[in-house]
Amino acid sequence: MRALVYNGARDVSVKEVPDATIEEPTDAVIRITTTNICGSDLHMYEGRAGVEEGTVIGHENMGIVEEVGPGTTRVKKGDRVSVPFNIACGTCRSCNEGWTSFCERTNPTEGMQGAAYGYANMGPYRGGQAEYLRVPYADFNLLTLPPGDEHESDFTMLSDIFPTGWHGVELSGFRPGDRVAIMGAGPVGLMAAHTARIRGARDVFVVDQHPDRLKLASEIDCTPIDFSKGDPVQQILDATDGEGVDRGVEAVGWQAHDTGGDEHPELTLDNLVQVVKARGGIGVVGVFVPQDPKSPGKASEGRIGWDYGTFFTKGQQMGTGQAPVKRYNRQQLDLILAGVARPSFIVSHEIPLDEAPDAYQHFDQRDQGWTKVLLKPSA
Ligand SMILES: NC(=O)c1ccc[n+]([C@@H]2O[C@H](COP(=O)([O-])OP(=O)(O)OC[C@H]3O[C@@H](n4cnc5c(N)ncnc54)[C@H](O)[C@@H]3O)[C@@H](O)[C@H]2O)c1
Ligand SMILES: [Zn+2]
Ligand SMILES: [Zn+2]
Repeated sequence: MRALVYNGARDVSVKEVPDATIEEPTDAVIRITTTNICGSDLHMYEGRAGVEEGTVIGHENMGIVEEVGPGTTRVKKGDRVSVPFNIACGTCRSCNEGWTSFCERTNPTEGMQGAAYGYANMGPYRGGQAEYLRVPYADFNLLTLPPGDEHESDFTMLSDIFPTGWHGVELSGFRPGDRVAIMGAGPVGLMAAHTARIRGARDVFVVDQHPDRLKLASEIDCTPIDFSKGDPVQQILDATDGEGVDRGVEAVGWQAHDTGGDEHPELTLDNLVQVVKARGGIGVVGVFVPQDPKSPGKASEGRIGWDYGTFFTKGQQMGTGQAPVKRYNRQQLDLILAGVARPSFIVSHEIPLDEAPDAYQHFDQRDQGWTKVLLKPSA
């Protein structure tokens, strides 16, 4: 089968690799209809996440079940399914408590809980930017979708970023009527903004410096804040009579940078501590890592000096981590079918898998007009 392979920093290509097959009775093999490039893939693409050369990338997958193992009874050949990026066993304590992102059995890496497709440190599983994908524990993991091809670009957001944006809002302790500030208008930040609107936020401020991404925030009735035009904290304070916001969502991660591109891993956390009110909450879904030799200063060892003193003094709360997709994806499917949610509003490109290397380059540069890329392996 053909698949997108990581060859080294800023070098990916589509190659022939061994077919995805049934390896365990509880597996399924999916024929991929749509697979997206994620901001998380860019950390690897830039050579910042310690991924092995030869890895097949891709954790935002959906498609049609091609084959099931003999221990798979619910999911059937021909079913249209969304594949959560978490690979979870369904029987450990974390899975039973609804935290599939911290599954205790699927990641063989010492000290790591939680596994994913085609991702550094997330286990030996190949990704889905390919014609086919092997899905472990298929009955537990797969979300069955209505048949046909309707809503394909909405449903494809159910594997990761719509649940992740929702999780960021949830972790912040959000309540209807709250004001929310979101750092980052990438796909995840925009999904958090969409969530906050659907769930009844009073105001939603979205911070970035790219006009195309900020425009998408305006289109869903959020207030764009361009941090290249001045301190984002001051801009939000000015817009709220000096009050600030009740909730903050971090949707950038440890590669947060200033307008000149210099990285400051603490920048967005400090901004949120400043702009969120006393007793407010912050949800961090942008990724932070325990080590990255290419990070400035002590952040290379995961030690990020942020304004913990003010955070404590204001009595704020913070939640962090990978999103447990299964906690939210069914509800979100219902919201899409009911016409309440339309996460496809961020899609800028739908292209064949063969054009992925070029798309990676554009998306990595955050080039104007490249807001979310969907790959079509069978096109
Ligand atoms: N927790 C999870 O489960 C999960 C799932 C998916 C993605 N992620 C992470 O979410 C983050 C965002 O991913 P994405 O797909 O939206 O892609 P992305 O990386 O393209 O989006 C990040 C955006 O942040 C902006 N940005 C950079 N510095 C900033 C600053 N100082 N202030 C405000 N904005 C700033 C960039 O301009 C960019 O538009 C990444 O770290 C990704 O790894 C986490
Ligand atoms: Zn993703
Ligand atoms: Zn588990």
